[in-house]
Amino acid sequence: MASSRQYLSFVFVIIFLCISQTCCHYETSQGNSPLYSQTNSNTSKLKLTSPTTGAPWPMPQSYNVKPDVNVINVGNFKFVHGKYQCMILDEAFIRYYKLIFNHNENFRRSSSYKILKFESGITQLEVLVNTPCKDNEYFKLDTDESYNIKISKDSAVLNSKTVWGALRGLETFSQIIYHDKLGQYVVNTTTISDHPRFPHRGLLLDTSRHFVSKNILLQNLDAMAQNKFNVFHWHIVDDPSFPYESIMFPELSQKGAYDPETHVYTQSDIQEIIEYARLRGIRVVPEFDTPGHTQSWGKAQTDLLTKCYTKGQPNGQFGPIDPVNNATYTFLQKFFSEIANVFPDQYIHLGGDEVSFNCWASNPAVKEFIKKMGFFFYGQVEEYYMQKLLDIVGRLGKGYQIWQEVIDNGAKVRPDTVVEVWKSGWEKEMDKVTKMGYKTLLASCWYLDMIKLGDWQSFYVCDPFNFPGNASQKKLIQGGEACLWGEFVDDTNLMSRLWPRASAVGERLWSNQTVSIPFVAQPRLEEHRCRMVGRGFPAEPATGPGFCKEEYIHS
Ligand SMILES: *[C@@H]1O[C@H](CO)[C@@H](O)[C@H](O)[C@H]1NC(C)=O
Ligand SMILES: *[C@@H]1O[C@H](CO)[C@@H](O)[C@H](O)[C@H]1NC(C)=O
Ligand SMILES: *[C@@H]1O[C@H](CO)[C@@H](O)[C@H](O)[C@H]1NC(C)=O
Ligand SMILES: *[C@@H]1O[C@H](CO)[C@@H](O)[C@H](O)[C@H]1NC(C)=O
Ligand SMILES: *[C@@H]1O[C@H](CO)[C@@H](O)[C@H](O)[C@H]1NC(C)=O
Repeated sequence: MASSRQYLSFVFVIIFLCISQTCCHYETSQGNSPLYSQTNSNTSKLKLTSPTTGAPWPMPQSYNVKPDVNVINVGNFKFVHGKYQCMILDEAFIRYYKLIFNHNENFRRSSSYKILKFESGITQLEVLVNTPCKDNEYFKLDTDESYNIKISKDSAVLNSKTVWGALRGLETFSQIIYHDKLGQYVVNTTTISDHPRFPHRGLLLDTSRHFVSKNILLQNLDAMAQNKFNVFHWHIVDDPSFPYESIMFPELSQKGAYDPETHVYTQSDIQEIIEYARLRGIRVVPEFDTPGHTQSWGKAQTDLLTKCYTKGQPNGQFGPIDPVNNATYTFLQKFFSEIANVFPDQYIHLGGDEVSFNCWASNPAVKEFIKKMGFFFYGQVEEYYMQKLLDIVGRLGKGYQIWQEVIDNGAKVRPDTVVEVWKSGWEKEMDKVTKMGYKTLLASCWYLDMIKLGDWQSFYVCDPFNFPGNASQKKLIQGGEACLWGEFVDDTNLMSRLWPRASAVGERLWSNQTVSIPFVAQPRLEEHRCRMVGRGFPAEPATGPGFCKEEYIHS
């Protein structure tokens, strides 16, 4: 079959990349769904999926819908707030009014599709937030996102503790409205009581291997909000390029970006992205990955990286950040104090993955340092480096996340560290990390840059609780992240590669653990994918043959 041959050659490309050591984060867990291999080997037998109508994605914790259909009075409809309101809510009202009623005319609509305006029925959604909200407040890890919706014949009410819960509820409300055969906007009598299963529902984008323009990042934040993701993990720099335009060290991007003018994020770009995310209840957690993955840093900071040696002579190659040179820590102190100011979130991701020890082992100063410190292995050098970095960032008042290797290499980190698990064999690792008392995030199952037909099902069935830990270990799981590494991704394909495959992860992290059967979810995912297309996203087909009432047209 042609498609499987294509897949095979893709695997060869990956193997080649791994051998040539340009491969980052390609290890992943596979084959944990029986349905998964079915759809790959038998694609020609896939049947057409009939989408649901007016069903929400992700599935609320409690969702009670009656077969009574209520018409929306489109001509008079408005959102109204209760005692507490702020700009965050006002802006959301404008967004959701557009999402519900102003469909883009630039679509190929199926011939049966029409929209009529009826002047009777439900005229408003009352949005009652129970605590004050401020125009400038930020969404945080422990913010309450719960909400309730009650829709009956002539009233619609949304209740929430916080304005952020109201945003989640507005999204759900916008999804349960649909068009009936007459072309009316309708909504069934519905009672919803909802809250997320995990507080951290992240999506990682890598803007170093390929540059991704600001407009795509903004569009993606909209898609994230519509799938109830709440963390944009911005893997902003790495070996290939350094697009972050630093205030204190402008040379980093002048020399390290693919292009210092067109392939950079200026401070104003970054503030715009953070603000856009904030208004949608999304945290922006930047990742400045060290001491490995830093080749692009070395172009401007010439003494920052370790010089590698062959036969007692520097060979012109550079390794991870030099852990021995005191100037390293002076630089890191200055650099991260800038980062702590630029990014308001409480957390910074400090990386720490895939540190190669070969270069350190070749360098005379590092060898001497090992002797002086009485270390036995290079993992202890990494520990020394990470410890100093964590102290620097801790003193700046920030919390931090790290990749699992920092722990695997034996480093002792502060007890409030969040460890992100990304390698295969994640069940053992989650057990180990939570036994040590660390908070964790799971990413292993959700490497969306790895592609297989119908793979949303394998993302969907991967449950972060599916390891042999006890209840107090499971309490330490903050959630997880879908990761889209950038080797084969840029503006041309980022949105379609992510959506709706990431939606499967969105539901896993939001909905009840018992909502877990791909076969049952599929018609609802089909509707959700079409809904995203109707809202202007190039969300790719995920479930086999089918069509949307509103099809995507490239403008
Ligand atoms: C897939 O197709 C093959 C060959 O037609 C068949 O032997 C196999 O049972 C099918 N697998 C499933 C899960 O339907
Ligand atoms: C809404 O009501 C209609 C009409 O009774 C019914 O056919 C449909 O299944 C209901 N929708 C949902 C999601 O239950
Ligand atoms: C580097 O810092 C350490 C500890 O602060 C100090 O003992 C050492 O002398 C310094 N080395 C240099 C070359 O300044
Ligand atoms: C779970 O296991 C951990 C570590 O093995 C232990 O410290 C803790 O007391 C256990 N908790 C429960 C609820 O059994
Ligand atoms: C998930 O659903 C089960 C059964 O309905 C319920 O007992 C449990 O409390 C729910 N879990 C959460 C996190 O709401």
